[in-house]
Amino acid sequence: MSKEKSYVSEAVMRRMPKYYRYLSDMEKSGVERVSSKELSQRMGLTASQIRQDFNCFGGFGQQGYGYNVSELRHEIHKILGLHNKYDIVIIGAGNLGQALANYTGFEKDGFLAKALFDINPRLIGMSIRGIPIYDIDEMESFVRNNNIHIAAICTPKEKAQEAAERLIRSGVRGIWNFAAVDISAPNHVIVENVHLSDSLYTLSFRMSDD
Ligand code: NAI
Repeated sequence: MSKEKSYVSEAVMRRMPKYYRYLSDMEKSGVERVSSKELSQRMGLTASQIRQDFNCFGGFGQQGYGYNVSELRHEIHKILGLHNKYDIVIIGAGNLGQALANYTGFEKDGFLAKALFDINPRLIGMSIRGIPIYDIDEMESFVRNNNIHIAAICTPKEKAQEAAERLIRSGVRGIWNFAAVDISAPNHVIVENVHLSDSLYTLSFRMSDD
């Protein structure tokens, strides 16, 4: 990995997690080496696309020799920053907030949910898989005192921007937003909007005959 992140296009960045996923699966199945042609066939990309993508990071592997799956996976793991450990809070402990807290898969990648926050007195004091649900009024001090890096926003959309602003003021640097609204944030804060409905509408569009 040699080039700055600012050289990497949005499209390349969006493909990196997919490479990581495919390579992780290949490594688990015992595949040791893969050519860009084979990888392209598995992933539905062209071989030249793959080579171009990897060249953004200085290129991996040798011409005619293919890629060492474990090494390539390891490099992409680093590029994705997955060697870092992140503590997360979840804002809104309803259906989605609880589902995120219940899912153990993120922990395996180093994303550890430390607390949920809600306004509903019936939820406050409960816990999900041992992760406590606190009153939203405790959010700022918790984020500051526990050096929280990432917040997942699972509130109704009307409350999402306000929650984001409070979190950012408290030091959060990454917002993983599930509410159906685009969060605005200063440049030093990274926002990933996960709009499941956009994806569903795209599915509907692609299925529709008109
Ligand atoms: P929900 O109604 O089950 O949960 C929302 C929770 O947020 C409630 O517990 C509520 O008390 C809490 N809340 C309200 N205002 C708050 C505030 N100011 N601070 C902290 N907590 C607050 O809703 P659900 O289904 O969990 O959805 C959450 C968000 O995710 C919504 O914006 C929804 O549109 C979006 N979403 C949910 C999906 C799902 O599968 N449940 C799918 C796609 C999007």
